Amino acid sequence: MAHKNTETTFVRSVRLAPSTPEERNRFPHNLPILHGLESLELHPRVTFLVGENGSGKSTLIEALAISAGMNAEGGSRNFSFSTRASHSDLHKRLTLVKNGSLPSDSYFLRAETFYNVSTEIERLDEGGGGKRIRDAYGSRALHEQSHGESFLSLVSNRFRGDGLYFLDEPEAALSPRGILRLIATIDSLVSKGSQFIISTHSPVLMCYPDCVLYEVKNGSLKQTSVTETDHFQLSLDILTNPVVYLRKLME
Ligand SMILES: Nc1ncnc2c1ncn2[C@@H]1O[C@H](COP(=O)(O)OP(=O)(O)OP(=O)(O)O)[C@@H](O)[C@H]1O
Ligand SMILES: [Mg+2]
Repeated sequence: MAHKNTETTFVRSVRLAPSTPEERNRFPHNLPILHGLESLELHPRVTFLVGENGSGKSTLIEALAISAGMNAEGGSRNFSFSTRASHSDLHKRLTLVKNGSLPSDSYFLRAETFYNVSTEIERLDEGGGGKRIRDAYGSRALHEQSHGESFLSLVSNRFRGDGLYFLDEPEAALSPRGILRLIATIDSLVSKGSQFIISTHSPVLMCYPDCVLYEVKNGSLKQTSVTETDHFQLSLDILTNPVVYLRKLME
């Protein structure tokens, strides 16, 4: 891992304005991930957000991506489609503390809505005119690839490096070997000066060493190390002796 120096950081930290009394007890302001959070230092290369289902990772990463000028449902800054009724208003409380301007290459990958992004690319390309968007995503149409193949295509073809990338559960469709390919691609993009903010449940992905890792635990977000996360410890316990572990679970 030969990396550029930290001068390439695009976003140093995120400040969170206090919620109003009206906001305090309602979504998204009452999520555990935001509890007591005033600011979040980002790593110049990779920042991981980890936590149980429903702890608020997607909501936070969506608000960060919107603050960086991206479409709430995913894609680059050039996408403006929406197939959902609304996104949360959390971004209004966020301020990105930047090092100069944001890079020209940026992307928000949302595992749960990537299908919609692929559909939007097809729709825009059908309109004809300029250069086909799908060509930037590899040689095959995204809808003609498997779920996991299309994710890897996106990261290895569309991401150019020297960019800012928000990934929400990028491992969702990937096999263990696919996750290793994703790690190698992330590392190659990092060596080209990229910065990633990634929410993940993958104990393998979060082993990427050049990172800061935050976990939602006991009701708030705290910095930790990969081996201390619940995800890592539970996976280790299960895989060390799966038969015994599952027998106890099913008793
Ligand atoms: N529009 C909404 N209105 C009210 N509650 C919502 C809304 N969107 C999400 N929530 C709730 O907010 C909580 C956090 O959701 P979020 O998707 O951010 O969690 P997450 O940490 O990404 O979970 P997962 O690991 O399952 O992806 C969930 O309990 C969810 O039901
Ligand atoms: Mg999520």
